[in-house]
Amino acid sequence: MAAKVILILLFTALSFLLNPSESRLTLDYYQQSCPQFSKIIQDTITNKQITSPTTAGATLRLFLHDCLPNGCDGSVLISSNSFNKAERDNDINLSLPGDGFDVIVRAKTALELACPNTVSCADILAVATRDLVVMLGGPYYNVYLGRRDGRVSKSSLIDGHLPKPSMPMSQIIEIFSSKGFTVEEMVALSGAHTIGFSHCSEFTNNIYNFSNSSPYDPQYNPRFAQGLQKACADYRNNPTLSVFNDIMSPNKFDNVYFQNLPKGLGVLKSDQSLFNDPRTRPFVQQFAADQNKFFQAFSQAMQKLSLVGVQTGRRGEIRHRCDQIN
Ligand code: HEM
Repeated sequence: MAAKVILILLFTALSFLLNPSESRLTLDYYQQSCPQFSKIIQDTITNKQITSPTTAGATLRLFLHDCLPNGCDGSVLISSNSFNKAERDNDINLSLPGDGFDVIVRAKTALELACPNTVSCADILAVATRDLVVMLGGPYYNVYLGRRDGRVSKSSLIDGHLPKPSMPMSQIIEIFSSKGFTVEEMVALSGAHTIGFSHCSEFTNNIYNFSNSSPYDPQYNPRFAQGLQKACADYRNNPTLSVFNDIMSPNKFDNVYFQNLPKGLGVLKSDQSLFNDPRTRPFVQQFAADQNKFFQAFSQAMQKLSLVGVQTGRRGEIRHRCDQIN
């Protein structure tokens, strides 16, 4: 009997040693170590969003670009140096706005003062994103905590792991399904385009000289296409020109983005394709008809996104600065 107990103890100890990363994420991870955690993030995002209303969109996209390629480990926040071209310098990340990075740096600075060496940049990004979604009227969802920051950030590891508007829908579906997301979850997550901007360069191919028979992609509502042409007229001289992703209620997190798509009011080709592809259209229609259904699906999918490839236990580190590995 005693031998059996010793064997079980040995086996448990061994499996712990072999699996040091098996610690679990919890909702109250910082309750003892940093009781001000939630309040500090809440105060930081509120001040930042009030002074820079582009922060919410910027942060939500930053979060997607952190999590989808190789897990929510804050690796998108790391700056390049002479030895390493980091993720944020990959072409697809060059349009990530400074406000998203800035709000995380501000929260990290405040948290380092209150509880040094305790809170990971990856957790800050996950919670700041959720709080900003809520601030704009979107749903609250639980964010489990205890992510550790990654020690690798390579631009070359991003290629092919993030969706582009020019990709066929099959490829976009494949990118999400390779990370475990269903088509419904992918459509729900795309509802993030209910806020934020797109630069003209992301869709000029679809509004100027589109084909011999039409100057713009006929998927667009004609008046909307003409409006986009006007708004982007000077885009070559002014690459910062951009338009709202949801022209009807750009600063509100709601389901109007989905209501826009059947009317040809989606900005990016990939937005419009969500309605035109038979695999995704049913979900667009359901979310357009029922905001609660969208909010439920979005919350569940965001929780799932926030758990992609997280590092815990002895893997990763608590970065001192979000833009540098320790
Ligand atoms: C389905 C495939 C998707 C494609 C092809 C796509 C592509 C894009 C592009 C090209 C932009 C414009 C960036 C710019 O010009 O600065 C954009 C903006 C944005 N995307 Fe997506 N996206 C997709 C899905 C998602 C998902 C799943 C999320 C989040 C869960 C998301 C969040 C955002 C946000 C919030 C913005 C606005 C950014 C800002 O205001 O700075 N996108 N997206």
